[in-house]
Amino acid sequence: MLFLIAIEAGYAELSDHSERDPPTYHQDIAPILASNCVECHHSAGVAPFPLTSYDEVAPYAEWIAAVTAERTMPPSNLDNSGTCNTYVDARWLGEADIAAIASWAQAGAPAGSPPDDPPESPPAWTLDRVDLTLAMPEPYTPSETLDDDYRCFILDPGLTEDAFVTGFEVRLGQSGMVHHMTLFALDSAEDEAFAAELDANEDGSGYSCLGDTIVSSRWLVGAGPSDRGALMPAGTGLFMGAGRKTVLQMHYNRVHGTFPDQTAVDLKLEASVPHEAFVEQVDATDLELPPGMPEVVETDLLKLDADLTLWGVWPHMHTLGTKLRVTAERPGSETCLAQVNHYEFHWQRFAFYEEPIHVRYGDTLRLTCTYDTTSSDTMTNWGSGTADEMCIAFFYITVPEGVPLPFTNR
Ligand code: HEC
Repeated sequence: MLFLIAIEAGYAELSDHSERDPPTYHQDIAPILASNCVECHHSAGVAPFPLTSYDEVAPYAEWIAAVTAERTMPPSNLDNSGTCNTYVDARWLGEADIAAIASWAQAGAPAGSPPDDPPESPPAWTLDRVDLTLAMPEPYTPSETLDDDYRCFILDPGLTEDAFVTGFEVRLGQSGMVHHMTLFALDSAEDEAFAAELDANEDGSGYSCLGDTIVSSRWLVGAGPSDRGALMPAGTGLFMGAGRKTVLQMHYNRVHGTFPDQTAVDLKLEASVPHEAFVEQVDATDLELPPGMPEVVETDLLKLDADLTLWGVWPHMHTLGTKLRVTAERPGSETCLAQVNHYEFHWQRFAFYEEPIHVRYGDTLRLTCTYDTTSSDTMTNWGSGTADEMCIAFFYITVPEGVPLPFTNR
């Protein structure tokens, strides 16, 4: 009897003791990094240093603790804490992981003993099926006379039947120079003829198209510099008409040099989908941002004149933007549609909600953008150049049958 009690007490002491032990690299930290960081932080990744072994990680322990506590790494523009939605495939650490990294760093980054099976990173995302590839016909080198070269290329998908885009993967030719790419549909022969005329009037491949595509066009897919692509929410897709052409808009910024680029987009298509989707924007265009201010706030309101289902959001500002929030308001209720706490130009992309959000006729959408202008010495206004500013929330939406689109562009 005594003997048994002694053993139990011994176990209790042991487990108490292990709870007080600091986390170790091999036991606790490596699996967190493998699932959340190594995707970019490996020897050939987009991040500047690898985080794949104890020797690589330990010298950065304090830094890693700081960036994870601030939630600037893993990079994500949208708050995924649940206070304002959660997103599919979000880059977001749980509180317990952040706490483990903090106490590991505080304890002096102990290594612990290597497990028999080191943690594996999830395989890189790729489109599960490619039905169509649209590629720039030849490499294009941005103009040396422009800081920001927006170039539009007319691409012919050669579709013999109508189709819906249900997924895409971007293959950027020059990720260091491409600020974004957006593929647009041309919905009429007149729009195609106008685009062809713009193209013919300029030397070289494509035509210059600062800001928008100049011709009337409809958004299909878009990606920022760190984006690979996505599957659209199940049951939704973006229409591509048989025989119709597309325009690929590339935004090149030459701060890191000028190189030839030949970007391609892989598309996954379906012959039909239950809900046709559209991309529409809410924006605040009347921007006047005085220089030297740590916080300038701009707001715009838009009254909805239709019921809509929102499936995803892409917040967009340029380099002075720090925070963004969009809400849908009606008497007695406010629904948060997007909350950005640390905006980073490079981490833009569409994020799809885990649960779609229904907004209604009469709701007011409130868009608020916050900027830090301490780095600028002149007034900054709305514009398409990287040094200008924007305040936009793009939404991926579906509308009830026969309802006219409530936003501005169509
Ligand atoms: C989507 C790609 C991506 C993921 C995922 C990612 N990083 Fe990064 N990380 C980067 C890039 C790119 C930079 C360089 C940023 C720059 O130069 O502005 C960076 C920079 C850093 C830095 C340097 C500090 C800084 O802000 O520049 C630290 C530390 C860091 N990452 C840690 C992490 C940790 C820890 C994780 C996982 C919890 C992680 N990163 C996940 C891409 C990524």
